[in-house]
Amino acid sequence: MCGIVGYTGSNPALSRVIEGLRRLEYRGYDSAGVALALTKGEKLVVEKKAGKLANLEGALNGGHENATGGIGHTRWATHGGPTDINAHPHLDESGKLAVIHNGIIENYEELKAELERRGHKFKSETDTESVAHLLGEEFKASGDLATAMRSVCARLRGSFTLLAIQSDNPNLIVGARRNSPLVVGVGSGENFLASDVSAFISHTKKALELGQDQVVVVTPNEVVVTDLAGKTVTPKEYEITWDAKAAERGGFEHFMLKEIYEQPKAVADTLLGRFPTPSTIELKELENISGNFQRILILACGTAYHAGLIGKYALEEWAKIPVEVELASEFRYRNPVISEQTLVITISQSGETMDTLMALRHAKSLGAQTLSICNTMGSTIPRESDSVLYTHAGPEIAVASTKALLTQVIALDLLALYLASKRSSITSNRTKEIIDALLQLPNKIEEILETVEPLRAMTRGYKNATSVLFLGRHVGFPAALEGALKLKELAYMHAEGFAGGELKHGPIALIEEGTPVIAILPPAKSEIAEKMRSNVQEVRARGARVIAIADQSHSLDLPELIRIPESEEILQPILSIVPLQVFAYEMAVARGNDVDQPRNLAKSVTVE
Ligand code: M6R
Repeated sequence: MCGIVGYTGSNPALSRVIEGLRRLEYRGYDSAGVALALTKGEKLVVEKKAGKLANLEGALNGGHENATGGIGHTRWATHGGPTDINAHPHLDESGKLAVIHNGIIENYEELKAELERRGHKFKSETDTESVAHLLGEEFKASGDLATAMRSVCARLRGSFTLLAIQSDNPNLIVGARRNSPLVVGVGSGENFLASDVSAFISHTKKALELGQDQVVVVTPNEVVVTDLAGKTVTPKEYEITWDAKAAERGGFEHFMLKEIYEQPKAVADTLLGRFPTPSTIELKELENISGNFQRILILACGTAYHAGLIGKYALEEWAKIPVEVELASEFRYRNPVISEQTLVITISQSGETMDTLMALRHAKSLGAQTLSICNTMGSTIPRESDSVLYTHAGPEIAVASTKALLTQVIALDLLALYLASKRSSITSNRTKEIIDALLQLPNKIEEILETVEPLRAMTRGYKNATSVLFLGRHVGFPAALEGALKLKELAYMHAEGFAGGELKHGPIALIEEGTPVIAILPPAKSEIAEKMRSNVQEVRARGARVIAIADQSHSLDLPELIRIPESEEILQPILSIVPLQVFAYEMAVARGNDVDQPRNLAKSVTVE
């Protein structure tokens, strides 16, 4: 949801900023812009263009190599359409100070009216421009950009990451954050500010975490962080553990395809080091959580919510703890019954999703113990949770989440197994069986990916379908929801996931001659296998074209059948979701859509 990058140092700022924006474009691609400071007192160079980064690069035409300080922005529009004028950076009244912003300033109308009364003229429809004008006024009063930023932040309501640059001090960038991400990249003779570390990963692996309501002043050789009262604080330093290559396409046509193929490794990495013996599990991260909770509440959004729905089955079956799963965006606006005996688990790939963050804070304020499952080190959600279980999926760049989901489910399975062994709710033989099954998953995913070509060809045959339905029961139901979400966001097709048993209560009326239905069959020995097979027959009898996803335990006579390896029923979504991802990917390609940057979406949704 808007990518932000700032650079100050002895290297050409423009190329560093553009490189950062390229890596952050997944956060939003409605427009892109830069402000560059040349020498002291010289006017800022500001260029901004609606559309993708390539439009901005075209307009810049490789110029301004002598700038050594600059800020850049890639936008996911909230206030004001995706036009050149609404693109960031925005200037103050003097034109000497430029601001970029991620988030929403909730009181911008009030600020704008106040500034207009004092004679300020606004050019854009954005909430951000009020901040630029206010910052300009405060800078005029104090003569110090950091002081001005602190005063402005104290007046803002909502969420923001802000970066500002001023023409009289070209090597100084001031940033601030509240509820939106901002990290500092510490280089040698150069420093970076960015929404996430991918923006500067090829230049430094040393990063600083900024806390809530902090202001940072960055020059080529110094980083100073204060709170809003101006008191110096020491930010937490950390080392980035992956390299630039991990954030590049590496020969794949799209990031999404690369990330689908990275799943065997992502799952293996998330399982790594968890089993000290073949029948025991260790999760050191959970030491901060007291074992006395009576129930679990999982809060998440989108694909992460589906991970929660899948994980519920293992938590209840193995650990015998009641689990509820709720959309984070709904949770905050009701009065849930929460106590210290509730363990609230938030799941988020980015660790910055605003709905999830706000739900976490709400749960904490009600006294819950909190655990987050997250893929992004140093992000806000894990920082604000009592404990964190990191997934090890590596950077996920494509907007459509793939490897993050599989690793989130694995993390929940690990948690379920850990709690089961703590509470002795399963035997050590059974624990061993589950550990064996978990460890086999990476190879089984690999097997699916090696035989995926016929599925890709089959998918293209459905490219003109108007609607696709997904059916599943038990863990296959949330897998069906995920299949439908992937297809909607990538192929822009109507798609819905249903529980097989629910069909006859209404959705079956949607079936007409030729309607594609993707049915996920549980292993043949499951108690719901027969029921699911009947559901397949029911939709076929009404003209549906069924694509079945099933393991070898079924002998099925269906024209379109995708085989997956056999596994424990509870673990099956780790396998059955892979062909669903490939189906959505291929459909998006066949329909000529932008796979990695689907319309209207952004990777990290940092507004409510
Ligand atoms: O970063 P998060 O895991 O918190 O993101 C949550 C959702 O926004 C995300 O999973 C979204 O639904 C994906 N685009 C789906 O592919």
